[in-house]
Amino acid sequence: MSQLFTPIKIGRQSLDNRLVIPPMCQYSAKDGLPTDWHLMHYGSLSHSGAGLMIMEATAICPAGRLSPFDLGLWSDDHQLAMKKLLDSIRQYSPMPIAVQLVHAGRKASMSQPWQNFHYVKPADGGWQTVAPSAIPVNDNYGTPVALSKNEIQAIITQFAQSAIYADKAGFDMIEIHAAHGYLLHQFLSPIANQRTDEYGDSLENRIRIVIEVYQAIRAVLPTHKAVGIRISATDWIEHGWDLSQSLVLCQKLAALGCSYIHVSSGGLSDAQQIPVGPNYQVNFAQAIKSHIDIPVIAVGLITEAIQAEAIVSTGQADMVAVGRGMLYNPHWGWQAAETLQAQVIAPPQYLCSTPHGVKNLFK
Ligand code: FNR
Repeated sequence: MSQLFTPIKIGRQSLDNRLVIPPMCQYSAKDGLPTDWHLMHYGSLSHSGAGLMIMEATAICPAGRLSPFDLGLWSDDHQLAMKKLLDSIRQYSPMPIAVQLVHAGRKASMSQPWQNFHYVKPADGGWQTVAPSAIPVNDNYGTPVALSKNEIQAIITQFAQSAIYADKAGFDMIEIHAAHGYLLHQFLSPIANQRTDEYGDSLENRIRIVIEVYQAIRAVLPTHKAVGIRISATDWIEHGWDLSQSLVLCQKLAALGCSYIHVSSGGLSDAQQIPVGPNYQVNFAQAIKSHIDIPVIAVGLITEAIQAEAIVSTGQADMVAVGRGMLYNPHWGWQAAETLQAQVIAPPQYLCSTPHGVKNLFK
């Protein structure tokens, strides 16, 4: 019997199976508001057979967007627009939907990746970026201004306020984005964080903002709403953020009641040396899972049903996220279920779709 297609609970949220759609920026919002693209894209993915869909990195404030075209949740208008989007999708799909909340820090104010990826200057509709320290990623990015302690407090408050908007919009869960070199990861890594105050230097100080953001969000949400976090388990750079530090962070978060850990890697600096290949991040998920008692999601070049099944059935991770594979084939989950002789939820309009010989695929 397939383990990938067995139910699991994240906090109090029940999921039909352990296949996750990870957050994937679409760079298609207008002033932070969703467009018809989002309805089409997420509407389609809500029929993929996954147990959970995590919506793309959504900014807690305008300056926290990766690009001027990112989604945001910083006002009543944003909350209402997201609610409308979720209500539309939910008319036709029961799939639980999370949102990933982000501040991009020194990686903010960039163009859409397909527009000759570059820093968008304030005069061209971009903005001054901020970071733990005034160190740019490289020449292609803006040079950030180091945040004051008051500004750090304001950002923590914005994370909490954004979580309130997300809750009211009707998201089932919240994922905090502390991976891929964005603001929270910038604080974690000694490469980007060269502060000497209580938000820098020692490990305890570098993880402080992540813990405070988690606590601030947890405090404003009803207890039944799960709050998880995505981390980069390593910078893939010597003397950077690494697995041993990630274990300390994850143990602290788990002790505070964090609902899950989503284990990615890298994204902080060009100096990273990543041995990219199938399952290349799974050993980090496995190591973290062996140290904590909350669900762990593995992600990264997991493209085959048998591969995903093996990760869950051998206990390397509790769930598996498939990103680009889902963009390529929005019915990835259906085909995986067929391969593993499991069942998925499908809309009645498509029940007639199975090829000759495929039986009992749909619940
Ligand atoms: C991503 N990824 C990503 N990660 C994240 O935490 N927040 C985000 O908004 C995005 N945006 C995004 C956009 C696009 C187009 C891609 C392809 C990827 C990373 C993504 O969630 C995932 O971790 C990687 O794609 C690796 O998984 P796959 O694609 O190998 O299954």
